[in-house]
Amino acid sequence: MIGNAILRLKDLPPDPLLLFRTWFDLALGSREIRYPHAMCLSTVSPDGFPEGRIVLLHQFQEQPLCFFTDSRSEKGRSLARHRAAALTFYWEPLERQIRIQGTVEPTTDRLSDEMFSERPRGSKIITWASHQSCATVSRAELERQLEQADKKYELAGEDIPRPAYWQGYAVRPRRMEFWQAGARRMHDRFEYTWTEDKRWQLRRLSP
Ligand SMILES: Cc1cc2nc3c(=O)[nH]c(=O)nc-3n(C[C@H](O)[C@H](O)[C@H](O)COP(=O)(O)O)c2cc1C
Repeated sequence: MIGNAILRLKDLPPDPLLLFRTWFDLALGSREIRYPHAMCLSTVSPDGFPEGRIVLLHQFQEQPLCFFTDSRSEKGRSLARHRAAALTFYWEPLERQIRIQGTVEPTTDRLSDEMFSERPRGSKIITWASHQSCATVSRAELERQLEQADKKYELAGEDIPRPAYWQGYAVRPRRMEFWQAGARRMHDRFEYTWTEDKRWQLRRLSP
């Protein structure tokens, strides 16, 4: 199923991650989409309020919905408390939205190490220099911290270790909704829900 033909229940795969893969591949192939990996990650703050921000999706064979961040950040602190999150993608040229809700677990150290080692040197250094989401007195102070980290790893080249607080999180979906724009606002919406008997239930939603 390619393009924006009307979505029909009978054409959808039983596993929403397969449909995700098809749509995501289309987004990756679109020249008009600069950041196909960008998604809004929503978490629940310790005082119960929703909070959202953009992060990048990373996919692995065993865990197709991962993101990487500083576990000391606002989102990291929220996830330590409520292991629940929502991911929202919107690819405007495709007129498609995907919403995912699920539980969140840290990825293995092996995956985090692998991802960190692939980052450019500058990104590795800033991860050491900055305590993400922590208040800071000034930009000058941040620049001083960056200089310090630069000096510390001056001789390390690309071989900079991963700080234990920089890690991956994997989302295990329990609900996934696929939205596709239709003429006269007759949008197609399909919702997959993971049931207690461990299978995906699929139904059409009104636009
Ligand atoms: C396009 C884009 C991609 C981003 N990717 C990431 C990312 O993968 N990981 C990350 O920690 N922050 C990323 N950020 C920054 C976050 O939006 C956010 O500012 C930061 O993670 C701190 O969020 P928090 O204070 O809610 O924890 C990205 C921002 C943008 C605009």
